[in-house]
Amino acid sequence: MKQISINEYLNSNNPWSKRLLGLTQFQKKRDTQQIENEYNLDKYGKLLEFDFKTIEEYKSKEFELAGLNPISGEMIISIEDDLFKASVSEARKMYYDLIKSLVSKYKSKNICELGCGYGYNLSLLDINGYGGEYSINAVKLAKKLGLDVTEFNYYNEADYNFIKPDSTIFTAHSIEQIPDATIIIDSLEKQKNKINYIINIEPTVIEGRNSFLGLLRNKYMELNDYNRNLLCILQNRKDIEILELNIDSFGLVPLNTANTIVWRFKK
Ligand SMILES: C[S@@+](CC[C@H](N)C(=O)[O-])C[C@H]1O[C@@H](n2cnc3c(N)ncnc32)[C@H](O)[C@@H]1O
Repeated sequence: MKQISINEYLNSNNPWSKRLLGLTQFQKKRDTQQIENEYNLDKYGKLLEFDFKTIEEYKSKEFELAGLNPISGEMIISIEDDLFKASVSEARKMYYDLIKSLVSKYKSKNICELGCGYGYNLSLLDINGYGGEYSINAVKLAKKLGLDVTEFNYYNEADYNFIKPDSTIFTAHSIEQIPDATIIIDSLEKQKNKINYIINIEPTVIEGRNSFLGLLRNKYMELNDYNRNLLCILQNRKDIEILELNIDSFGLVPLNTANTIVWRFKK
């Protein structure tokens, strides 16, 4: 892994340079139609066309469809404000080790991932987890692979009833898809007696960012209509206790870095 400069990442070869500068227009509206097209039909619909035996083969295909060679490819990743060129396999290992170590540190009898896709993260855990996911194609793929994933929509309060007693909840790059996290925190509050910890490995707008890369990250979130207020809500609610907070911990895409937040409702 080799450290690189911001100019090696954000130059004229990266379409995001001009978008962030406002030289080319880009603005998404992240509503249910966008999720349906981008995830259900495109990403998971395409994966479902393959008939692999193992989940690793699906994950490698996912990287390949995103233009990355899972064996010999290189990619640019970030740790806080530092950028690195790493092999795809090295980057994947670092990211999934982060998820595994956080979930094992705060584990409960049951582990639940919300917005879990086809359940790849769940498949890495040493206990049987369960998950909820919006995309019907992802749920189909998860079931084909023998994982316990059910249909779940962050926007439907009743869907949160599937949370089992004595659960740790985690999310990884799925609340990023919900511009306003209010409905999520309010719905989880209704289930709080069943939840021990909540772990979010999520990009969000961070109001205090003041480095150049940090300001670009906030702008990137805005243009993509990604989440704007997860951390802000958690920090402002008196009934919530934040146990761990690491800003910009790790980015498989440096503009879209995940923060790690561990929290719980006060008893
Ligand atoms: C970037 S993917 C991450 C998937 C998975 N967490 C992972 O780490 O592999 C974002 C996921 O959020 C899901 N998602 C988006 N909107 C959702 C909603 N309203 N309810 C539940 N899941 C949603 C998408 O379908 C997709 O699976």
